[in-house]
Amino acid sequence: MTAGADFDRRMMDVALRMARRGLGATAPNPSVGAIIVDEATGEIIARGWTQPGGRPHAEKEALRRAGPAARGRTMYLTLEPCAHTGRNPTCADAMTTAGLKRVVCAIPDPNPIISGRGFEQLSDAGILVEVGVGAEDARWVTLGHILCQTEKRPFVQVKMALDAAHRVALGDGAPVWVTSPEARAYAHLLRAEADAILVGAGTVLADDPELTCRLPGLTKRSPRRVIMDSSLRTSATNKIYSAHDTVPGARYPQIWLATAVDEAHVMASPHAANRARMTLDAVPSADGRVALQPLLSRLAANGVTRLLVEGGPTMWAAFLAAGLVDEAIVAVSPQRNTGSTRAVTGSDLDAHFATHGMARVARRAIGPDTLHIFHRSNA
Ligand SMILES: NC(=O)c1ccc[n+]([C@@H]2O[C@H](COP(=O)([O-])OP(=O)(O)OC[C@H]3O[C@@H](n4cnc5c(N)ncnc54)[C@H](OP(=O)(O)O)[C@@H]3O)[C@@H](O)[C@H]2O)c1
Repeated sequence: MTAGADFDRRMMDVALRMARRGLGATAPNPSVGAIIVDEATGEIIARGWTQPGGRPHAEKEALRRAGPAARGRTMYLTLEPCAHTGRNPTCADAMTTAGLKRVVCAIPDPNPIISGRGFEQLSDAGILVEVGVGAEDARWVTLGHILCQTEKRPFVQVKMALDAAHRVALGDGAPVWVTSPEARAYAHLLRAEADAILVGAGTVLADDPELTCRLPGLTKRSPRRVIMDSSLRTSATNKIYSAHDTVPGARYPQIWLATAVDEAHVMASPHAANRARMTLDAVPSADGRVALQPLLSRLAANGVTRLLVEGGPTMWAAFLAAGLVDEAIVAVSPQRNTGSTRAVTGSDLDAHFATHGMARVARRAIGPDTLHIFHRSNA
């Protein structure tokens, strides 16, 4: 007999690894992990995770892989199963029919049409239900979905690359790489795990980036790109507007140009030619710039649960000042940049992020660089 709190926690860690696999590929649905285990032997019979596009859900995927072997077994699951009545049988229905004996789940689903009903349906069917194992980690993996439900905005991750003096190198027609290929590959992985990437007009004008994921094997995981350009300073010929859409069958436009000018101005500009490929949001704020909170709500309503803010420094500062950053990932090079640079955080990263209600959760080497990770303290 293997059962016990330690065993449950180890199995939940496996389910959490499954959930992480789907990040960036399942929106607007949450990425969930599910494994089916024989508690008598400790054997993992089947693994499931939310499939690209959000369906099948992790529970049904694990049950499909387990087949009749699921009967009498335990499922470890990172988020409460769906139980609302729709066209398709719910996951709670499928789990009941499969004859599971016990379900260990990390967190309830805050979606009001589910919230508690999934657990209730399982308990009513005689399945033993335990909630809370690995809850903190599951909340973090699922935060995009949770925030879309509770705050009508996506999970916001900010990524910065700084030199040894914590300054940002300024591009002049092309990006200046201060960090190593290892750190840049990691940045591309973050793109694959996001539902959308956001930059300001300054970065498009200075670097002319494509903002696609170019990691071997993950090029199809390039997310949608959002450009915040209040007064249409970017050019319709910037590469970002012509970079090929790399998400086959995507259900959403691949480029959003968020602008504060009205539709008539957009139609009179060269950007009108790109119109078929964009949703043009007119979201002005008091200072005439694109307002952040309404833009985030608009993105959430359009299926973005995880947003990667790639910069530049004006954008980082704006999101931090608005208290809208859940995670900051800062790659610091051991080299000083000799070209033109801008101060960003000051010498003490911890103090800088503390002023924005964020605390360090990790510091680790990545190639020759150091990765510093900060989380919103009340996330
Ligand atoms: N090292 C790195 O990790 C990294 C990453 C990205 C960029 N960079 C560098 O950063 C430099 C560009 O810096 P940047 O600060 O000018 O670029 P940015 O943050 O990408 O763009 C700033 C612009 O965004 C627009 N914007 C729209 N709505 C806004 C709002 N609510 N709040 C603030 N800005 C808003 C503003 O222009 P409008 O008012 O015209 O809309 C603003 O000037 C480049 O040289 C690039 O190479 C470095």
